[in-house]
Amino acid sequence: VKEVARLIKEANKHNAVAKTIDGFEVELIRGSAKSRKRLLDLDGWELLTLHIDTILELPKRLARECGVPAEEISEGIKSESIQSCGVLEIWLKHFNNNVHHPVILVPGSAHYSWQKAAAIIGIGSAHVRKVPLDLWGRMDTTALGKMVEDCFQSRTPIMSIVAVCGTTEEGAVDPIDFVVQMRETYRRKGFDFWIHVDGAYGGYLTSMVRQDWEMPPVSSVEGPLISHAAYVPQDKTVVSQHVYQQLKAVRDVDSISVDPHKVRAILT
Ligand SMILES: Cc1ncc(COP(=O)(O)O)c(C=O)c1O
Repeated sequence: VKEVARLIKEANKHNAVAKTIDGFEVELIRGSAKSRKRLLDLDGWELLTLHIDTILELPKRLARECGVPAEEISEGIKSESIQSCGVLEIWLKHFNNNVHHPVILVPGSAHYSWQKAAAIIGIGSAHVRKVPLDLWGRMDTTALGKMVEDCFQSRTPIMSIVAVCGTTEEGAVDPIDFVVQMRETYRRKGFDFWIHVDGAYGGYLTSMVRQDWEMPPVSSVEGPLISHAAYVPQDKTVVSQHVYQQLKAVRDVDSISVDPHKVRAILT
């Protein structure tokens, strides 16, 4: 998703997306100032740090405002994608003078499949940066804050921050709510990143919350552990205050992966 704006710009250069998008503008946020700029004039840094929602709405807006059908966009961007060009061509062509190589931030506890995936798709396992953990085995918020600020200052796009909901070894749940809040702060500076929750191990718990997410406020629940009818199986599922708050924050992230079979194996 982070790549879509760049892909559309490239596809337009090669006539794969109609010239009618010449005057098409997107919103840029820089501090308290909001401005509009032609999509075709955005540089590499701007393309990779656009607000996620701005990127997601591009196909619909292009269809509505420029009459470019969604199929034309998805066809047009295929030839510019990492899958067709390879990462090397993309970075040599577009980004080496303007921005640093993008990174993915994961907690020190992340499953080894993250490095594997980064290696396979060509981002490179060395660009998966590990955030140190706190004594609870969760992503350390101070360290994360510093790493994000370093990326911002050095013009290193963050493709995604991964927060784990149930680490493989410890079952620890990262501070998802903190990551969401931090993203809001950086969005106001014009620096956006995707948030993914790796709930392969513990994410299924999220789907066990009932009552359309109308969970009671944490302050109304006493004690360090919560057993509440909002969960199924009722009164048997107990989660900590921390987990409770993180499950609530999952609705504000961009994607989540869940392996329901893993929880089933534990429950039965
Ligand atoms: C937290 C976490 N993420 C990712 C994975 C990888 O999941 P899969 O085996 O579905 O690729 C696992 C597997 O145990 C995991 O525990």
